[in-house]
Amino acid sequence: MKILLSADDIQRRVAEMARQIADDYRGQPITIIGVLTGCLMFLADLVRHLDLPLRIGLLQASSYRGATTTPGALRVQPELLPDLRGRHVLLLDDILDTGQTLAYLREHLQTLGVASLRIAVLLRKEGRQQALLHVDYRGFDIPDAFVVGYGLDYNDEYRHLPYVAVLSDDIALSPGT
Ligand code: IMP
Ligand code: MG
Repeated sequence: MKILLSADDIQRRVAEMARQIADDYRGQPITIIGVLTGCLMFLADLVRHLDLPLRIGLLQASSYRGATTTPGALRVQPELLPDLRGRHVLLLDDILDTGQTLAYLREHLQTLGVASLRIAVLLRKEGRQQALLHVDYRGFDIPDAFVVGYGLDYNDEYRHLPYVAVLSDDIALSPGT
């Protein structure tokens, strides 16, 4: 697999993003809502650099079932959400691809009485966005390729890699090897 972003690249950028976020919120308490499962590494690293009073919540939304690039039906499980009324919410995901997931989640969270809502993603895939969606913080723009690692999976594998790599076609075409 071809490494696109090294562990060092990612750590440096995540620390920078945390500084920018802390500057913008200026000590206001926030609630970070991570989109499972891909957000886990990004969330865990970001909050450890984040000098703000904060709470963490999670929600599950998955639009991909095995296939690499075709979005399926979006499933959302908001049961893990804390009470968000009056909270400044930062919605966090691993990657902005078509934008469908985050656009849907933004609408959903807006109905819960949040004081404000911003979005942070580690990666944005160039040339893929269909939904009109403003993302407030993004770590890296990457080319339109299927990537794994640092939370991102293919069939739930490779999430644990400390770097982001392009999944090679022969791996994607022969699952189980
Ligand atoms: P969107 O709704 O099309 O923006 O898709 C967002 C979700 O699709 C992300 O949260 C990821 O879980 C998944 N996804 C999109 N592109 C990739 C990729 O290159 N590798 C792994 N997962 C991806
Ligand atoms: Mg995801």
